[in-house]
Amino acid sequence: MAQNTPIPWWQKLLVTQKAEKTETGQIRRAANSLILHLHPARVPAQAIRFTYTWGLGGISALLIVMLALTGLLLMFRYDARIDYAYISIQQMESEIVFGSLIRALHHWSANLLVITTFLHLVRVYFTGSYKLGRKANWIIGLVLFFLALVANFTGYLLPWDQLAYWAITVSTSLMAYIPLIGVSLRTFMLGGPQVGQATLSNFYALHVVFVPAMILILMSYHFWKVRKNGGISQPINNSGEPVERVSTIPHLVNVEYAAALVVIAGVLLWSMANPAPLGPIANPYSSPNPAKAAWYFLGLQELLLHMHPLAALSLIGILCAALVGAPLLDKDDRDIGIYFRSPVGRRAAVLGALIGFNLTPLMVLLDEYVIDIPGWLPGLPAFIGVGLIPCFFTLGVFAAIYIFFRKIQLHDQRNANHSEALLGVFAFAVAALLILTIVGIFFRGANMALGLPF
Ligand code: HEM
Repeated sequence: MAQNTPIPWWQKLLVTQKAEKTETGQIRRAANSLILHLHPARVPAQAIRFTYTWGLGGISALLIVMLALTGLLLMFRYDARIDYAYISIQQMESEIVFGSLIRALHHWSANLLVITTFLHLVRVYFTGSYKLGRKANWIIGLVLFFLALVANFTGYLLPWDQLAYWAITVSTSLMAYIPLIGVSLRTFMLGGPQVGQATLSNFYALHVVFVPAMILILMSYHFWKVRKNGGISQPINNSGEPVERVSTIPHLVNVEYAAALVVIAGVLLWSMANPAPLGPIANPYSSPNPAKAAWYFLGLQELLLHMHPLAALSLIGILCAALVGAPLLDKDDRDIGIYFRSPVGRRAAVLGALIGFNLTPLMVLLDEYVIDIPGWLPGLPAFIGVGLIPCFFTLGVFAAIYIFFRKIQLHDQRNANHSEALLGVFAFAVAALLILTIVGIFFRGANMALGLPF
């Protein structure tokens, strides 16, 4: 920076200078020290490219801080007894200054967190950033994603309105299909046979103590591990040239600050325009039609409409296991830090996504209006007709896509290697999940029948 350029006040807090004994100097040193605990003093120039990480990990962390702050404020007024929960939310909305805004900020930040952590996961996979010493962080990340879902899920019940009551009833009823432990697990979660006071108490404790504590511990470890790995991933340098490095302060923190300000402003504006929803008070005797799970589980609920619950849960189990095992399934470290591995991988990803975007709605329509295995083969047991057959068919599609990428020439007369073919399958799975979720949100009406949203 030129000597005579005036430095803005906020940058003065960050720029490393000789420690001063003044108050500003102490704040500056504290801020610098915190930043340099999170980041190395110098980072590769490539690492500050916003279009590499899209700031998604940092934005998720920021959202967690916003959730903790707004959640703490909500706790002053919220009453976790079933006779008072709904009223306390109503009071918050109408009687407390900024109560409605705080609730909206908490609600929308929570929903956004599911999206940003999921996109972060996708970016990490696309750049092969679970390789070279990052396996543990991949697994921790998956647990963090799971915890973000649990935090949302447990918070969903707290307003105790119809939406909350029935979404939790529908979602937890799925648990009962898990073999051997399903029913006990559901009873344990609910604190009884159905959603009631014990459920609200359980969910409240999980939501405000257990899950946030787990997130805090694992997130700290996650950050420490990124730092320990020498910062975020980057391509292996085979050129012999030294990697260009820039100082973290101010280069990287400026990018982070800008991203944080945009996110805070965006969430704030959105929350001001869109209050958090609150339906009529929960009524255990009258279920709304359709009774849908929370939006982030609608992909799973959609899958359940097409196959036996046990088959759908097994399929989800297999896909989750594949996600956990991603670092073992793809051990080729050479392509770390490169989006889509190579031009061939990029083609595989685009094709995989295109197949997912087209095949999934086609299969939903065919299954809804054409395919009727129990009708065609009346003697066939249900667990084969609507269980094993659709489950194996779906797994077969995954295998076929993998083989397809391995066999055809995608770019420059080259077919995909193992890592690139898996990438194509991953892109297919993401696209399919997206379509199933969209169908669940917008195209399922009364009695969960397929229909147009308008
Ligand atoms: C609460 C959720 C999460 C938070 C706050 C978080 C935060 C972060 C941050 C700040 C980074 C540094 C780089 C970046 O911004 O991309 C990072 C890197 C990483 N995250 Fe996460 N993360 C979360 C969830 C996940 C998930 C769901 C996964 C994947 C399963 C994951 C796997 C990783 C890995 C492997 C790295 C190292 C990436 C690299 O070296 O390029 N994280 N995370």
